[in-house]
Amino acid sequence: MSAQARAQLPVLRVPATPAHTNAGGDIFGGWIMSQVDIAGSIPAVRRARGRVVTVAVESLVFRRPVYVGDLLSLYAEVVKVGTTSITVDVTVDAERNPAAPQVVRVCEARLVYVAVDGEGRKRPVPGAGDTNLQTER
Ligand SMILES: CC(C)(COP(=O)(O)OP(=O)(O)OC[C@H]1O[C@@H](n2cnc3c(N)ncnc32)[C@H](O)[C@@H]1OP(=O)(O)O)[C@@H](O)C(=O)NCCC(=O)NCCS
Repeated sequence: MSAQARAQLPVLRVPATPAHTNAGGDIFGGWIMSQVDIAGSIPAVRRARGRVVTVAVESLVFRRPVYVGDLLSLYAEVVKVGTTSITVDVTVDAERNPAAPQVVRVCEARLVYVAVDGEGRKRPVPGAGDTNLQTER
């Protein structure tokens, strides 16, 4: 699959369950933030061809509440590559109400990852090269 086709698919799909609620019974924003960080790291690792660490969350906005039972789809796209850093935009959509399905944009974020070696030291991001996935079945 080409990198372009892959960018249109969610990198992560995860249900919001009662295990992810706060004391008030709503979905805990911190849980969504961790899903955003995981989602953003997926294209960052691919682009870095190896380990990355999160260095910054440049922005994160919760646009709508998330409810128990929502199915979250997280999309992540590399928007900038520096010497050692990779900037990724993550958007989160919630699919809800299976009887009359509705998709709502609930969160948007921009995160920066840094490519690191086995000792956690920053390393240059390699050239773009061929990022098509080879699938074996
Ligand atoms: C990421 C880390 C290796 C960077 O090391 P460093 O010596 O501070 O590196 P630099 O200051 O040169 O920054 C490295 C890159 O990150 C970018 N960067 C650093 N701080 C940033 C910030 N606050 N916002 C955006 N980008 C930032 C720099 O612009 C640079 O990008 P470039 O190489 O593409 O130009 C180091 O800060 C680190 O280990 N941080 C902890 C990461 C971590 O554990 N994350 C998980 C938290 S639980």
